[in-house]
This record gives sequence, structure tokens and C-alpha cells, in this order.
Amino acid sequence: MNNPKLKIDTSRHLAALGDLYGIFFEDLNHAADGGLYPEMIQNRSFEFCEVDNATYNATFGWSFENSQAFHIGEDDPLNTKNRHYLDVKTNEDAAVLMNAGFNDGLFLEKGKQYRFSLFAKPLDNHLKLKVAILNSKNKQIVAPQEILIESKQWLKYTFSMEPTSTTDDGMIKIEFPPHCHVLVDMVSLFPVETFKQRANGVRKDLAEALKALHPKFMRFPGGCLVHDGTLNIDARDSLYRWKNTIGPVEQRPARRNNWGYNQTLGLGFYEYFQLCEDIGAKPLPVMAAGYDPHHQRKAPLDHLDEWVDDALDLIEFANGAPTTKWGKVRADLGHPKPFHLEYLAIGNEEVGEGFRERYPYFHKAIRAKYPSIKLINSSGPFAGGGEFELGWESAKKYGSDLVDEHYYEAPNWFLANQHRYDAYPKKGPQVFLGEYASKDNKWYNAVVEASYMLGLERNADKVGLACYAPLFCNIKYANWKPDLIFFDEKQVTPSVNYYVQKLFMHYQGTENVDYKLTGTPEAKMIDDKPLNGQFGFEADQADIAVTNIVYQDGNQQPQRLTDQHLTGRKRIALNKMVSQSYTISFDLTKTGGRPDKGGHLFFGHQSEGNEMMWILGGWANADSIIKQVYKGKDSDWNQFNWHVEQNQTYHCQIEVNNRHIKVWIDNVPMNEVEITPLMVQSIYTNVTYDKKSGRYFLKVVNVGDHDFKLEVDHDLFAGGLIDRLQGDPKAENHLGESNQIKQVRQPFRGTALTVPAYSVSVLSSQSFK
Ligand code: AHR
Repeated sequence: MNNPKLKIDTSRHLAALGDLYGIFFEDLNHAADGGLYPEMIQNRSFEFCEVDNATYNATFGWSFENSQAFHIGEDDPLNTKNRHYLDVKTNEDAAVLMNAGFNDGLFLEKGKQYRFSLFAKPLDNHLKLKVAILNSKNKQIVAPQEILIESKQWLKYTFSMEPTSTTDDGMIKIEFPPHCHVLVDMVSLFPVETFKQRANGVRKDLAEALKALHPKFMRFPGGCLVHDGTLNIDARDSLYRWKNTIGPVEQRPARRNNWGYNQTLGLGFYEYFQLCEDIGAKPLPVMAAGYDPHHQRKAPLDHLDEWVDDALDLIEFANGAPTTKWGKVRADLGHPKPFHLEYLAIGNEEVGEGFRERYPYFHKAIRAKYPSIKLINSSGPFAGGGEFELGWESAKKYGSDLVDEHYYEAPNWFLANQHRYDAYPKKGPQVFLGEYASKDNKWYNAVVEASYMLGLERNADKVGLACYAPLFCNIKYANWKPDLIFFDEKQVTPSVNYYVQKLFMHYQGTENVDYKLTGTPEAKMIDDKPLNGQFGFEADQADIAVTNIVYQDGNQQPQRLTDQHLTGRKRIALNKMVSQSYTISFDLTKTGGRPDKGGHLFFGHQSEGNEMMWILGGWANADSIIKQVYKGKDSDWNQFNWHVEQNQTYHCQIEVNNRHIKVWIDNVPMNEVEITPLMVQSIYTNVTYDKKSGRYFLKVVNVGDHDFKLEVDHDLFAGGLIDRLQGDPKAENHLGESNQIKQVRQPFRGTALTVPAYSVSVLSSQSFK
């Protein structure tokens, strides 16, 4: 059999790829505090509290010897934004204050410098503190150093320390002498060496992992972290407000991070912009729109100016001349030159009219003042459905430049949706795929992501930007999986998915090039079966009554089934559909159980782990979702905003025609979706050209279990280079272990490119400039 052939038409350059591949940073999994922000002391300003996390209090992270000497004070704070401090009063005994950081001890390296600092105010006489670092076996890593505290005012004391040996279980010890009374705040231990040696900079090894990706942009600071909070800028659990995050760190108010911990805001907007510049990525900030979709908090429309001004001021902060108000703030912080902000996202993944009625206020004000800023609207957290459509409608109506789409799905969803963007219109807003990942960190997921990314590239005229999410995970604090980069206090291990992102960013190219692929085997149909099979109900930690259950299988007579009462997680199978088309109707009443849950209809159940679900009252009882479970992995195909009220009865109907699903609640049409058949191509390809280097890049992805060869243009690729990633589909990288996938870089010889099973390759040409 002849090898498949790929012939490139170098005379036909197609859509520009612009800033297609970037990254998304959010402080979840302790990505910032305890991660990229290298402050080593946890709870340095005694501001942790139960608003952040039910297990926190102001001394969380600290331990004491002679603990009665320590109290939390509020009456004489360092400043109004940093309200708590430690009041230390000793009697005839000394007292000791200790902190072991975020992970299982402080990681300090021999020969490196660390800057210790604290603010103190003695209430009696001057005193000397002793600061040392010990490991868990009480061995001194840094010998005690004395600080003389003598000013009667709050004052910062600082010195550098150099460990005599390396430790990963260090603990800082601050000893207070007998008979002293002193107030202490902002106890900090910070590596002197930061990425690019920035003051209050970021952790070098983690930032280097970002720079190595070559991202074109960085979306920050979140995610849900941006839009989950109250409207009061001074509240502990306020929405993310960038103005709180700049200036001296001791004046930045600590904040509740919705991922269940405290955010010091030590990593703030100035540092984010600086980081973008240092890694060569365009900044892409996300602003809260005066709206919290999780708690339905809405800034009144006649008080939206404060929020709109935040956005306008941010643009001035980033781009304004030092003669402008906010440009001067930036210049005074040390960056007189602009940060060249081009993109601004209003809202994260917003759902609800609350967002859509606020968005235009931002849009119009920003367009009027800064017409060149590219504005990003939002289509919510699902790949399709009512909210998704409304988000797109809003973007079209107001002329947003891009629409942020988010989805985390099983690999089969990505394979079945390879052609999602082929059908998108070429005119109007572009897609910003601001969050996506196939739900696991195995090599198979990464290969599938690579194949999907080729669909993004191919449609570069419709898809403007895309970034995998989330980025970082401190493995001690994993609250979201999968992730791109794992770390703890001392080491960094990229996931296998990272290597795909890196390869694609490295070889993005500036424009698509036309090519023809011939002789490839037909795409393989994996699943196009009708969605019939068993059906039944399942409680989702709520008590539900399902009554008046009637089903009709094809042309059979409608059948009525006995009423069901389910509690806890009880599941009951009722019957089996055999026709391609069927309907089920039932009345659903939630009678008790968890307020944030509802019930499920499962249908099309073909075997264990392979079925469809209609989730009634999903995600915090806010959605009606059509979910597919395929080989035990689930994907949300379609979502509508809907919630189930307790003791109210809803009449629910579903109609399934082959792979088309349509549902109604109380006779109102809701979700409607076609579950695209799962079809797998033998290879996925794309060709791009890079204007700067004059090189052509051919990307080839094989998601299957067969090796093959691909004949390519000899004239174009002679003297070229192959970069290939391959591995076992189950391979996964774990922190501290070696990379589980093979990376090959070798000259290209001959005319045929070997494409191993489960591989991602880029063939790059020499320069044709
Ligand atoms: O990336 C993790 C979270 O997923 C983001 O915070 C949010 O936008 C999405 O739901």
C-alpha cells in the first residue's frame, strides 16, 4: 500500500494565526500564594480568616512556644488595609514564633540569598529579636541573627540570610526576649533571586516554565476568582478589583480566594503585566463586570460607573503616558513605558441577564475612549446551549472583537467536535477559547488536545486566541485537575500536556498554508449508534418524586410506569428503548435533600459507563444539562439556565431521534443538541508558515494505535528538522519524576515522515526567505 501524501501549495497562504496560542494564569491550586508568588511565609500578615476558609484564623500557619505571649491585635494596625497584627508580650520567659511555609517545610538552598523582613513597633523599650532557620531535626540552616527593634513607630526591618545547607523542611523561628512588648506584622521571607531579578518578583523556575512555552498572550488573574465575590471593594470577599492589587504589598488588602484559601494579592496587576513583558506574552486581563453569577450579586446599573471606570483606568494604567493619572501610577511603580495592552476581557464565563445587561456599558465606554482595545465578551462555561447562544448574540449585537468560550470535556468530545469551528462564520466576533482541557493528564488526552488544536489553527480566521486551563498546580493543594504544570516548594514538573502546548506555541507560525492530503485511510467511525438503551432516574443527593412517567418507544403504544421516590444517590433503571426514536415524559418534584442539587434522567444506557443524562438542577442547582458519559468519562454537550424549586412540580419531556435530543420543561423548549458521531481520522494535520524565520511547519497528530509514514514535499523539507513527542497513551507525569513521554529532535532525511502511534510531530523546513 502507498503511503499517504501531503503536497503543500506554497503560493497559497491563508488565514493569519495572530496571537493564537497563549496561557491562562489563575490563582487556584495555590498557583500564586504558595506558588508563582515566592513569598515563603504562609499568612505573613496575620490576615487569614474564616471568610477565606472555615479552618482559618489569624494565626493559621504559625506555631508558638510560650503561646500565651501572643495575641492578635486590631487597635494599632500597620495601615487600614492590613488590620491585624501580632501583639507579643513576654514575661520572664522568651517566646518563639514559627512558620513552615505552604508545603511541608521551607525550601532553602545553600549559597542562595533570602530576604527576611518584618514590620515592628515596640510598645515598651527597644528589644532584640533573634531570627533563625532550623530544619525538622533542629539543625540550624541559618544561624540566629539579631534585629534591634528601636523605633517607636511601625518600621520595616530587613536583612538577608544565606543558608549553610539546603533543606526542604525548614522552619523560621523568631525569638522574642523576656520582658518585651512589641507589635509585629508582615513577616516575610522572600528569595532574592526572582525571575528577571524583579523586586517582589515571581518564582524563577515556575516563570521559566512559562517562558519556555513561548506564549503569545497571558490571560489573568482568573477565572471564577475574578467574578466570585461581593460588590464592596473593601470587603474581604470582594470581587477581584485590580486597584487593590498594586502598590506596597503591606497596603494590599488580603482577599478571600473563591478556591477556598487566602489571596495576599502580593502578585498583583503590576507584577502580572511585568511578568507578561518578561515572558514575551501580551497581557490579557479579565475584569469583573459588577456581577457575580454564582451569588446573583449585581451592581445597580446607575452605579456601574465605578466598575466601568475600573476598566478605563486599567487601560490607562497599562498604556497611558506617565503624564496621565494612572500612567503616572505605573511610572511611579517603576515602569514608565507602556505595557501595550491590546486585549481586555469583560467578565469571566458569565451566565445570566445580569451580565448581559451590564456588558454594553463597559463595551460602549471602552470603545469610545480606546477604540483599538480588543474587547472580549463571554459565552459562559459550556460549549453549547441557551447561555452560550445568548453570549454570542450579545457579542454580535455590540460588536465585541472576541467571545470567550470555555469547556472541559472527555477526549471523545474533542474528537467528535474536531469540526466545531469549520461552521463558524468568518465575519463577526472571533472565538477566544479562554479555557479548555480534555479531562485528564494522560498522554492520550494530550494527543487528542493536539488534534483539536489543529482544528483551531485551520480555523484561525474564526479562532483568534486559545489557552489551555488551568496552568499551575501545587500538588499539596490540588483543587482542580487536570493542570498544565505541577510543582511543590522545590521542584517543577510539567504535565505531558505541557509538551504539546510548548511544541505548538514554538511552531505556531504566522499564517496557514494550503495543502492537499491524499491516500489517507478513511476516517474510522467509532460510535454513531442511536442513543437508545435503558433509561431510569437517579437522585443527586436530593429527595425527588418522579410521577406520571410515560414513555413511547418508536411507534409502540405509550406506556405508563409506576411513580418513583428516590433519595440520596439512589438510581433505578425502569425500562429499555429499542427504537431509534422515543419520548419520555414525567413530572419531577424535589421534596428535600441538598438545596444545591436536583435529579437525573439517564437514557441511552448501553453499558456500564456509557449513557446519556439529563441533569435537572446541575451545578449548584442552576442548570439543565445534557451530558454524555462515554467509557466512564463525561462531557456536557448542552446547558440551559434552570433550577428546581423544592415542592414545585415540573412537567419534563424528552424526545430522542437517533442522536438528536430535545427537551421541554413545563412545555417550554430547553436543551436541544445533536450528539455528533465519534469519528477518528487516521491523522490530523496542518501547515503554517512563519514570516519571521521564513520556515514552513507541518504538524501531524496520530491519535491511533498504528504507526504509518507520510510522504511530504522533498523540496520543501529537505534539510528540515523533526520534533516529535510520543508515548504510551496512559503515560502521565508526576511531580519529581522524569518525563514519561519521549521527545525526539532530529534532522529530516528522505521523503517520508514516520508518524508513530499516539504521537505529535512537527516537521519544520529550512528558511525560504
Ligand atoms: O480553570 C478553572 C475554572 O474553570 C475557572 O476559574 C473558571 O473560569 C472555570 O469554571
